[in-house]
Amino acid sequence: MIVVTGAAGTVGSDVVTRLRAQGAHVRALVRAGSAVPAGWDAGVEVVAADFTDPASLDVALADADVVYLLVAVHPEMDAHERNVIDAAVRTGRHPRIVLHTAAGVGQHGEGVRFLTAHTAGFAHLGASGLPWTVLAPNGFFQNFLGMAEAVRSGRLALPGGTGAVSYVDTRDVAQAAVAVLTGDGHDGAFYTLTGPAALTHAEIAEVLGQTAGHPVTYEAADPQAALAGLLADGWDPWRAQGMVELYGLYAADGASAVTTDVEKLTGRPARSFAAFAAEHAAAWQSGADH
Ligand SMILES: NC(=O)c1ccc[n+]([C@@H]2O[C@H](COP(=O)([O-])OP(=O)(O)OC[C@H]3O[C@@H](n4cnc5c(N)ncnc54)[C@H](OP(=O)(O)O)[C@@H]3O)[C@@H](O)[C@H]2O)c1
Repeated sequence: MIVVTGAAGTVGSDVVTRLRAQGAHVRALVRAGSAVPAGWDAGVEVVAADFTDPASLDVALADADVVYLLVAVHPEMDAHERNVIDAAVRTGRHPRIVLHTAAGVGQHGEGVRFLTAHTAGFAHLGASGLPWTVLAPNGFFQNFLGMAEAVRSGRLALPGGTGAVSYVDTRDVAQAAVAVLTGDGHDGAFYTLTGPAALTHAEIAEVLGQTAGHPVTYEAADPQAALAGLLADGWDPWRAQGMVELYGLYAADGASAVTTDVEKLTGRPARSFAAFAAEHAAAWQSGADH
């Protein structure tokens, strides 16, 4: 039995769909009250569980052979990862844990709270005695869909300075995850999942502009101004501060390394940002009805 946490989210829902397409036995952990993603077939066993409720995790993990451990970005995300790992230990079945973290974990993530939290979760996993594999994706292409309004307006202001980032498509992350969840020989492996190239945000804006059919200009925003903007937009302060920390890492070229781990795991090159942008052309075009 393969158990997937964070299963209703962007990556988790895709991992579940792809596992089912291979005929795997899949249990999807979805918070009570959350919508079950459309597109899952009837073979997906959906279980209500919460990272903050160890009893619900004990039930959900009871007969797990492999666990895809993905938690949401949250001030308690390190505790959430610990809770799932501890529940996996309590099963007594020694399930393999595939930990979904983020690029930079265990390397140069100091000062970026999301990476610090994942690093703590990884350390807990290492000490648990369970077999493990780590998937550490870089920033997602799909994050730019949340910035479509800015792209349509022709001005993309981010505190990323002139640093380059090897962003990756979430579909490549999900496909790599399925390869690790269903294949052998991944114990103790740490895969950093990136796109095929590192792009500066100015280059990203240019690609988006070509697809949008109007110029899109990148503006290197001041971090404090960016933070104020996120707070004014109603962002939770913990998360907003974390985003500014992450873009500080980007600005310092701390997320520019390109790997071939997607290709190693999936058997084909990682998708390019240009291809992703073209697929979503309608989202970037001004005058479109959104
Ligand atoms: N975004 C990036 O660029 C990026 C890059 C690298 C790594 N990452 C890592 O990727 C992960 C996020 O992946 P994603 O974007 O696929 O996640 P997501 O779409 O935010 O989905 C996370 C899922 O976790 C569920 N969840 C939240 N709190 C929960 C709780 N207390 N108990 C049980 N389930 C809970 C959510 O349920 P609901 O549906 O009920 O809300 C949601 O379905 C994070 O660990 C992040 O650090 C992100």
